[in-house]
Amino acid sequence: MGKVGFGLAVSCAAATCAIAAILVGKRVRSRRKWRRVVGVLRDLEEACETSVGRLRQVVDAMAVEMHAGLASEGGSKLKMLLTFVDKLPNGSERGKYYALDLGGTNFRVLRIQLGGKRSSILSCDVERQPIPQDLMTSTSEDLFDFIASSLKQFVEREAQNSEFSSVKRRELGFTFSFPVKQTSVSSGILIKWTKGFSIKDMVGKDVSECLQHAMTRNGLDMRVAVLVNDTVGTLALGHYNDPDTVAAVIIGTGTNACYLERTDAIIKCQGLLTTSGGMVVNMEWGNFWSSHLPRTSYDIDLDGDSPNPNDQGFEKMISGMYLGDIVRRVILRMSQESDIFGPVSSRLSMPFILSTPSMADMHADESPELIEVARILKEDLQIPDVPLKVRKLVVKVCDVVTRRAARLAAAGIVGILKKIGRDGSGGIASGRSRGSDGKMRRTVVAMDGSLYTRYTMFKEYLHEALCEILGEEIAQYVILKVTEDGSGIGAALLAASHSSHSSSSSSSSSSVVDSQRLP
Ligand code: BGC
Repeated sequence: MGKVGFGLAVSCAAATCAIAAILVGKRVRSRRKWRRVVGVLRDLEEACETSVGRLRQVVDAMAVEMHAGLASEGGSKLKMLLTFVDKLPNGSERGKYYALDLGGTNFRVLRIQLGGKRSSILSCDVERQPIPQDLMTSTSEDLFDFIASSLKQFVEREAQNSEFSSVKRRELGFTFSFPVKQTSVSSGILIKWTKGFSIKDMVGKDVSECLQHAMTRNGLDMRVAVLVNDTVGTLALGHYNDPDTVAAVIIGTGTNACYLERTDAIIKCQGLLTTSGGMVVNMEWGNFWSSHLPRTSYDIDLDGDSPNPNDQGFEKMISGMYLGDIVRRVILRMSQESDIFGPVSSRLSMPFILSTPSMADMHADESPELIEVARILKEDLQIPDVPLKVRKLVVKVCDVVTRRAARLAAAGIVGILKKIGRDGSGGIASGRSRGSDGKMRRTVVAMDGSLYTRYTMFKEYLHEALCEILGEEIAQYVILKVTEDGSGIGAALLAASHSSHSSSSSSSSSSVVDSQRLP
C-alpha cells in the first residue's frame, strides 16, 4: 500500500471511529435521559404506594377522625356537619316539588311529580345550565340573581302548561354542594368555598336566605323547604330506592360522603333530640387528613399553588378537579429532566390545562399506537411527535395517579363502615354486620360523581381495593350502588318529606335510623 492509500485508510478508520463514538455517545445520553424519566416514574410509584396495610391505616385514621369530629366542634379536620335530616323519604310522598342543584360548573333545576308509592316518581323534568365562569368569583347577589331568574323561567314554562299550574306555594329542595354549617334543615351558613368557587362576600352568610331574597327580587314565590349537600340528596334517593342504604359518596369534581349516625354518638351536640334517634351527618371528607396518606412532592406543590393551601387534602388526591393536574405536574417534571418530550412546552406549565376527562381518555386508550394519547399530548399540551414508548410512560403515570385515588376512596368508605360497625371487623360473625335474625345485613352505599360513574378504571380499582381491605366474605354484603342525579332528585324528595303542605310530612318518611336499621 502506498503512502496515500495508507493515509486514506487511517483517515477512514478515524472518521468511522468518530462517527461510532458520536453514535455511542448519543445512545448513552439518550439511555441516560430515558433512565432519568423512568426514575421519575419509579419515584412516583413508590410515593403513591397503597398497599393493603397502608390502606388499613387510612381506614383506622378515618374512623378515629370521625369520632373526633363528632366529639367536639373543630376536634378534627373532618367537620362532621349536622344536617338536621332525621327522616328520609320512604316512598309515600305525593305532589310536585322542585330542586335546585348548585355545586359544580353546571347547575340544574328540576321538578318531580311523586305518586305516593315507593319509587313512583311519575315525572321528572330537568334543565341544566353552565354557570358563567365570571359568576363563580363574582358577588353572591350576581350568582343568585342568575340562578333565581333561570329557575323562574323554568317555572314559567311549566305555568304555560295548565295541567301543571298549581295554587299551592311551590316548594324547593336546594342542593348546595359546599361546606355549610346548618342551623336547621332549611338554613345554613357557608363555611368556605371549594372546587374553584370564590365569592368572598358569601362566606359566613345564610345560603338559603341568599336564594330566598334573590327569588323575591325576581318575583318568584317559592319556599326553600330543605337545604342539603349533594351527598345528602344522593343518600335520600338511594334510601328511597333501597332502604338498606346507609351512606352516600360523591367522587366527581369534588369528593365527599355522608352517612346515618345515631344521635347519641354525636357528642358535640349532647341533648340533641331527633324523633328517629338518628341524623344524617355530612362528613366533608374532602378535608380529611392523615400522615398515612401517601403524599408526593406533586401533591405538595399542587396544594401550595392552590387558592386553599392546607385545605381539602383528601379531595386534592382523589377528585376530578385535581387528578389531571397531578398528571400534568409529573409530565412537566419528566420533560424538565430530559428532552424526551422535545423542548419544554409552555402549555405544560399552565395549571389545570390537562383536565381529568382528558387524562381518563389517555388512560383508557387501548389502540396499539396510543393514538388518543398522541392526540391529547399534541392538542391539550402542545407536545407533538412523542415516541410510542414515551406515550406508554404517560399512560402509566395516569394509571398510578388514578389507582392511588381510587384506593384511597375505598379506604375512606371502609372507614365509614368501620365507624358504624359494618366492616365486619372482628370476623363475619360479630359487630352490627348481622341483623336481629342473625343473618348478614346488606350494607348499601349510594355512589355518584363522574369519576366513579364514568371512569371505568377508577371504579374497578376502587372495588378491587374494597375487596382487599374487607376480605371477599364481608365485601359481598357491601353494595356500592350508582345513584345518578341523586343530588337533585333526592333534594326534591327531601323537600317533599319536609313539606309544609303535607300533613303527613313526618309520617310519610321513614326515620333515618329505625330500630331495624340502626347502623
Ligand atoms: C364539597 C362538598 C361536596 C363535594 C362533592 C366538595 O368540594 O366541599 O360539600 O359534597 O365537593 O360535590
